[in-house]
Amino acid sequence: MKITFSVIKADIGGYVGHSATHPEVVEKVKEVVKGEKEKGNLIDCGILTCGDDIAIVMTHTHGVDSELVHGIAWKAFEEGTKVAKKLKLYGAGQDLLSEAFSGNVKGLGPGVAEMEFEERPSEPVIVFFADKTSPSAWNLPLYEMFADPMNTAGLVIDPKMHDGFTFEVLDVYTGKAVKLSTPAELYDLLALIGSVSKYVVKNVYRNFDGEIAATASTQRLSLIAGQYVGKDDPVMIVRSQSGFPAVGEILEPFARPWIVEGWMRGSHNGPLMPTSFKDARPSRFDGPPRVIAAGYQVAEGKLIGPTDLFDDPAFDRARQKASEMANILRRQGIFEPHRLPAEEMEYTSLPKVLQKLEGRFYDTETHSPGKELIEKEDMD
Ligand code: F6R
Ligand code: MG
Ligand code: MG
Repeated sequence: MKITFSVIKADIGGYVGHSATHPEVVEKVKEVVKGEKEKGNLIDCGILTCGDDIAIVMTHTHGVDSELVHGIAWKAFEEGTKVAKKLKLYGAGQDLLSEAFSGNVKGLGPGVAEMEFEERPSEPVIVFFADKTSPSAWNLPLYEMFADPMNTAGLVIDPKMHDGFTFEVLDVYTGKAVKLSTPAELYDLLALIGSVSKYVVKNVYRNFDGEIAATASTQRLSLIAGQYVGKDDPVMIVRSQSGFPAVGEILEPFARPWIVEGWMRGSHNGPLMPTSFKDARPSRFDGPPRVIAAGYQVAEGKLIGPTDLFDDPAFDRARQKASEMANILRRQGIFEPHRLPAEEMEYTSLPKVLQKLEGRFYDTETHSPGKELIEKEDMD
């Protein structure tokens, strides 16, 4: 059976501040989506939360970019927003950028990751969901999962993986994408996706047969091309086992935390901390950035799960390490490289400061108050 696996996420109000979601809002979103399942519009559905974001996980047969399915998510977020507004939650409805739904949530605020595939005899799927970071946070782990044999033994051992994977990479400034096949074009791929503020991985396909292997939410960034639109707390769907990386190969990159953009005010570098569902509530300096991993078995489109894959003592060291990295970076305070370069900050006072000081900048070669003072002293 061909099914579509859709994850649509939004921040429709934080409790407290930007740290977490409120159970009543989550319940309302769930109720709306469940109602649509009961009407027969969806095969199955589930809700995940990470920090102040809510993700709706849906399986159906309507294909990607379905007006019906996007409309369901939009309605659920609108109803959830009403509850968030009643509770005066922080930033209630902040990701619903439009007054009205117009057929597709792309460009309207929510993040979308969707893929359509023929369900295999057994179909394990992992949904990653992060808060206080951006879609480029997936660049490094996607490379390790699908192109680094030191991480993924299957690239060497599994005949279906031995031909490698093709990465579709999006330039967030131009909205253009390019497909690069690994291992042949691995170094070209890394030359691009190492620039995390410019390039993000959108999809990954298996070279053996062109099957979709992974997809990430990048749409909002691509649609507002030409202009940097800030951080979108991202989601990602990854298929697993039997010719795709094993669950353990997919999770392995997260055992060694790395630095991502986001954190406080979307304007800092910080470690991505893998946590259980329960601990996905960024607090310290509005972070550090969090990621959860929800594992599902898909059975005739039904979502069996989720299991909380980072709720495992094997990731305790990673959490500890991320805290140590957070300490090192926090020592830098407002200084780079903890604070992002000016052009990548989500919001900044720099233009105003520069405007204020405009008339006070002088050329040190031809004119300096200090120099004038010395010359005056010489004359005296
Ligand atoms: C980052 C984030 C928070 C806020 C910060 C300031 O993605 O959500 O770190 O940027 O709490 O929030 P405002 O500007 O709403 O006071
Ligand atoms: Mg928020
Ligand atoms: Mg968020």
